[in-house]
Amino acid sequence: LESSNGCATNFASLQDSEDHLTEEHVTKGESTLSITVVGASGDLAKKKIFPALFALFYEGCLPQDFSVFGYARSKLTHEELRDMISSTLTCRIDQRENCADKMDQFLKRCFYHSGQYNSEEDFAELNTKLKEKEVGKLANRLYYLSIPPNIFVDVVRCASLRASSENGWTRVIVEKPFGRDSESSGELTRCLKQYLTEEQIFRIDHYLGKELVENLSVLRFSNLVFEPLWSRNYIRNVQLIFSEDFGTEGRGGYFDQYGIIRDIMQNHLLQILALFAMETPVSLDAEDIRSEKVKVLRSMKPLLLENVVVGQYKGHNKGGKTYPGYTDDPTVPNHSLTPTFAAAAMFINNARWDGVPFLMKAGKALHTRGAEIRVQFRHVPGNLYKKNFATNLDNATNELVIRVQPDEGIYLRINNKVPGLGMRLDRSDLNLLYRSRYPREIPDAYERLLLDAIEGERRLFIRSDELDAAWDLFTPALKELEEKKIIPELYPYGSRGPVGAHYLASKYNVRWG
Ligand code: NDP
Ligand code: BG6
Repeated sequence: LESSNGCATNFASLQDSEDHLTEEHVTKGESTLSITVVGASGDLAKKKIFPALFALFYEGCLPQDFSVFGYARSKLTHEELRDMISSTLTCRIDQRENCADKMDQFLKRCFYHSGQYNSEEDFAELNTKLKEKEVGKLANRLYYLSIPPNIFVDVVRCASLRASSENGWTRVIVEKPFGRDSESSGELTRCLKQYLTEEQIFRIDHYLGKELVENLSVLRFSNLVFEPLWSRNYIRNVQLIFSEDFGTEGRGGYFDQYGIIRDIMQNHLLQILALFAMETPVSLDAEDIRSEKVKVLRSMKPLLLENVVVGQYKGHNKGGKTYPGYTDDPTVPNHSLTPTFAAAAMFINNARWDGVPFLMKAGKALHTRGAEIRVQFRHVPGNLYKKNFATNLDNATNELVIRVQPDEGIYLRINNKVPGLGMRLDRSDLNLLYRSRYPREIPDAYERLLLDAIEGERRLFIRSDELDAAWDLFTPALKELEEKKIIPELYPYGSRGPVGAHYLASKYNVRWG
């Protein structure tokens, strides 16, 4: 069975090999799902997790029998949690519809338990409350760790010892950051694995849940026209670009510990790169896909300091409005060298991609918000129409752009003749604009990922060897940046970022798209 949103509603699929379940239990209605959002009072829970759970409920993607628990230290009543959740719920699916009834039904399934993150007793109390809802049923439990990383292990210890399911599965979604470098990430993995198996850990990278990132493999592997071109023979360079038109607002304290390379490049952009560059997996099975991703990451050369440019935004006055600099944030030290912008050139040392620069650019407080993949193709050898281009030939190569956000779309820039008696060439876009083609709203990444975790689908979650390979690529350059105290190039809030990014690209004959 499929709901209108494509989610499976056969809850037999909720079970998997790690479970202690018997055949007769695996029928709809006999199992129950408890989702505990740890850190329920926080920003991410409010902004993303509860709204995504509501959207799944609205779409009929949650099991018939489910409850949602918020867990945090703040002393809230069930009603206060419900008020907090309802303040951010919208009828995302269809703005014209009135969701009030559905919201009420959803909120009635939401409960709150206040406790410390390192208290086994508090988790034992949570366990009692969960059991009250689960009585007589097969109990599957999903924990979402929406908390700062320094308390991940405490929570996992207490939850696994005192509040694991006794007859169903227990899974834990872990939010980034997964450490700050190879060492701390390895340590985190080791600690988590004292209490959980790898199959129980769902490391989330929400970029993998974005529609256009999911579509990347479809584009590559189900269209004959792209895959043959997908190599150094035809592709000149690949650009992975992330920009935000706002600063670290409210998250300066966290951000200053990490910086943009760890916040965006080592995870979101690198994950996209791996999907873009991997070989064809044996199947769509999670392990086959993740193994191909690991292979490509392990074929990459670690980032060199000479291939990185870092920047930091400074305050700026524009149109009578003052935009604060990064260090104006009271939670950021005055002399912080943490980069809020970075550009990097990376290379894959394999037969398919040898010599092709993969350029990444990520920044906060830039002139625009967006995320895209730009693929620039090589020149047409011996181009017959060299003379007929209005611009120079360098600007006339084909380009494929996959716009992840906003305004999702895919377009291929081609050369064509301008209609008329003359022979003048122009550049045009073959354009798939999602909002024109698909009027239905695209689900938020967190919806897809939560649903996958519920269904035990691991394809879009990061495996531990993948994480190790990702850190190995960035750790040496990150260490050097910090040890050498490299001063980031300042750029005004709302600008295009440091000019150094252009020098880096031109070193590899690339022009940012
Ligand atoms: P918050 O800082 O809002 O923390 C969540 C909750 O954890 C708080 O409400 C608080 O609850 C508790 N908490 C906060 N600081 C501490 C502390 N030092 N010790 C113990 N408990 C603490 O985090 P976010 O909601 O912003 O993010 C949650 C996780 O998701 C983090 O790992 C973050 O890196 C990650 N993330 C966040 C994103 C976002 O947009 N916010 C985006 C991507 C990832 P209480 O005091 O009630 O116990
Ligand atoms: C998070 C980063 O992982 O992704 C944030 O920690 C960033 O700094 C966010 O703002 C961007 O996500 P999205 O989905 O809004 O592009």
